[in-house]
Order: sequence, then C-alpha cells, then structure tokens
Amino acid sequence: MAPLKSGRKLWTAVDEYFRGLLAPADKYLDAVAKANRKAGLPAIDVSPLQGQHLNLLVRMTQPKRVLEIGTLGGYSTICMARALPVGGCIVTLEYSPRHAEVARKNLKTAGVLDRVDLRMGPALHLLPMLENEGAGPFDFIFIDADKQSNAEYVKWSLRLSRVGTTIVVDNVVRDGKVIDGKSKDPDIVGTRRMAELIAHEPRLSATVMQNVGAKGYDGFLLAVVVS
Ligand code: SAH
Ligand code: DHB
Ligand code: MG
Repeated sequence: MAPLKSGRKLWTAVDEYFRGLLAPADKYLDAVAKANRKAGLPAIDVSPLQGQHLNLLVRMTQPKRVLEIGTLGGYSTICMARALPVGGCIVTLEYSPRHAEVARKNLKTAGVLDRVDLRMGPALHLLPMLENEGAGPFDFIFIDADKQSNAEYVKWSLRLSRVGTTIVVDNVVRDGKVIDGKSKDPDIVGTRRMAELIAHEPRLSATVMQNVGAKGYDGFLLAVVVS
C-alpha cells in the first residue's frame, strides 16, 4: 500500500472509498451536480455521502411533510425526496431566482417535482406565510441557507413542528471556527447563536456529528422536538 495520506487528502480519499461502495455513481444526482456547476452555482451542495445520510434519515423517520430551507440546485432535495413515504412531500425555500430555476429543472429531470413545492423568496418572509396557511406541522426539517439566520430558522422550525419532528442543520462546525467566541464572521456568530438557543430550549434535544470528507471539516446538528 502507498504511504497513508494525511489531513484533508486522507479525508477525501476515505470519502471517495465509501462513496464508491455506499453511494456509487447515480445517473440523476451526477447529472444534477454537473448541471449546477455548468450553471455557475457555488459548489456547496451536500456531498454524495451526506446526501445519502439525509436520505437514510428520511427513510428512518418516514416524514409526510419535509421542510428544507436553502435549495440551491436541489441536490439535497432530491436525496430526501427519493426517501419519502407514499404521499410525502417537501416544501423547499430558495431566495435566488437563478438557483430556483436550476433546481426546478433538476427536480423535474430527477422525477421528483411532483413531490416538491419549491418556493422562491427570502426564508424569513416565506416561513410566516407557511404558518399562516397552516402548512405545518413538518415532520422533518433541513436547515441549509444563510448561517446568520440559523437561530431564527430554528425558532420558526419549532413553530412549524410537532413533538417528534427531526431538525437537521448543516455546516455547524466550519473547520472548527465555531468554537471561536470572538469571531466576527457572521456565519460563526449565527451558528453560535443557534447552538446557544438550542441549549436553552427545553423542547429540543440535540447533538452534533462532526464530519470530514471531500467538503473539508464541518458537521450536522441533529435535533428532535421532545415536548
Ligand atoms: N441544500 C442545498 C445547498 C444549499 S446552499 C444542497 O445541499 O444541495 C444555500 C442556499 O440557500 C443557496 O442557494 C442560497 O441562495 C440560499 N439562501 C441563502 N439565504 C437565503 C435566504 N435568506 N432565504 C432563502 N434562501 C437563502
Ligand atoms: C457554504 C454553505 C453551505 O451550505 C455549505 O454546505 C458549504 C459552504 C458557504 O456558504 O460557504
Ligand atoms: Mg450546507
């Protein structure tokens, strides 16, 4: 065997190893990733193994109603949509018209558009609208938009949830920068505000899964509404 790589190179190699075994080439997802890059969308979709993680969480929890905040090109949306139980659907929120346009096309190609309600606009504008129309409660919520608003997104998630709702928040580690209480980076400030909100919220029980791989060092926060 060649000498072991280290650090990020090793994480990437391990990510590729398990990706090859557990989340191998997928005609539609690979086409979506390609279409997103071609359209100039930032390469911040969940990785194939992270997408598979979301897919399995949805399979485990069998949500009838999923809420996603931050669609981009719909890669994560497709991963979740494929695992929905019969009759299940996803409401996904995206404020960039360009991203939403690419996502709609991708969702159609992947054959899941019938299960997805893609809404365009700033999430903090759309979330009260969802509440007003009685769209909740959602059974599973994936938060993956602007990190500055994560505390607000968790507050809205609580309003739109029931006991037992699963909440997943992407990008809570950010190369470890999350532990820097002096950071002025709005993403870090937002992530820490969210973590502190959850810490003081008796209705939520939560944990963090640190993650290394092709996208570097980051993590998912996983929470369940317990009361
Ligand atoms: N979940 C996607 C990646 C989302 S990237 C995937 O894994 O495939 C974050 C997305 O959130 C971007 O498309 C960005 O335009 C969108 N976004 C950022 N701020 C937003 C806001 N305030 N309201 C709605 N969407 C927002
Ligand atoms: C960024 C956003 C994400 O949702 C992500 O998964 C990775 C990076 C970003 O804004 O840099
Ligand atoms: Mg993300």
